[in-house]
Amino acid sequence: MLSKQQQRNFEQQGFLVLSELFNDEQIAILKSEALGIVDAFDPESSRSVFSTQTESDKNRDDYFLSSDDKIRCFFEEDAFAKNGELNQEKHLSINKIGHALHVLNPVFKAFSQLPVIAKIAIDLGVNSPEIRQSMYIFKQPKIGGVVRWHQDATYFYTSPQSVLTFWFAIEDATLENGCLQVDKQGAKFPLKEQFKRFEDDSTQLQTLVDIDWPTQDRALPLEVKAGSLVVFNGVLPHFSEANRSAKSRHAFTLHITSADAQYSEYNWLRAAPTAIKA
Ligand code: FE2
Repeated sequence: MLSKQQQRNFEQQGFLVLSELFNDEQIAILKSEALGIVDAFDPESSRSVFSTQTESDKNRDDYFLSSDDKIRCFFEEDAFAKNGELNQEKHLSINKIGHALHVLNPVFKAFSQLPVIAKIAIDLGVNSPEIRQSMYIFKQPKIGGVVRWHQDATYFYTSPQSVLTFWFAIEDATLENGCLQVDKQGAKFPLKEQFKRFEDDSTQLQTLVDIDWPTQDRALPLEVKAGSLVVFNGVLPHFSEANRSAKSRHAFTLHITSADAQYSEYNWLRAAPTAIKA
């Protein structure tokens, strides 16, 4: 699937962009399925978890930690007015859907099991690829929140490090609507933090290496067309700015680890992985 040059680029840069790998139809099916999930979602079922009025970190944590084997909608931070009402329509208020779309939803399941995905993972050194998590990210117009510098291996810690992030652009991603930005020199960045979930379900972000995040001049914006795939390794620092534009920036993501690597018992996500085949 991938050329030697693409494999070398990934090794040197920590990421790879495959422009318009998927066609309009494949992308449109995912988008309409995601909107259907939001349409069927009753915001009252979790309003209290998110609205500023009754904000409770404990409730938010529980809603998040128990979502690893479910399909749940998460609101944008700025979705609610002070009175607890949504500021905009429901379908423009959701930050993301997670985290078991690849298991429970037939459309996302079929897409996630396309052989091309496993092939790319194998070509990038993940010999026995397993999907750990799926997310549909909306990055809504005007209120799409910022995601600060982080590394995905912080949340998917394996020994040796194996997690790959597959980031599928469902809509065009531009600087204006908050595209992904990666560290130009981050292919081998030390893993700075590990997010741990303990037996009592308390969580902690622990510093592993006391090093600063890259300076802003090292940020490389990845402006890509809908249908493109960005794959990156678990230590590549990345972020995205808030979306203040009038256009959403939908993306679907998969986190894939190797069955040959040891998955940390401290990872927050405990659901069984799904093996995929090329
Ligand atoms: Fe990330």
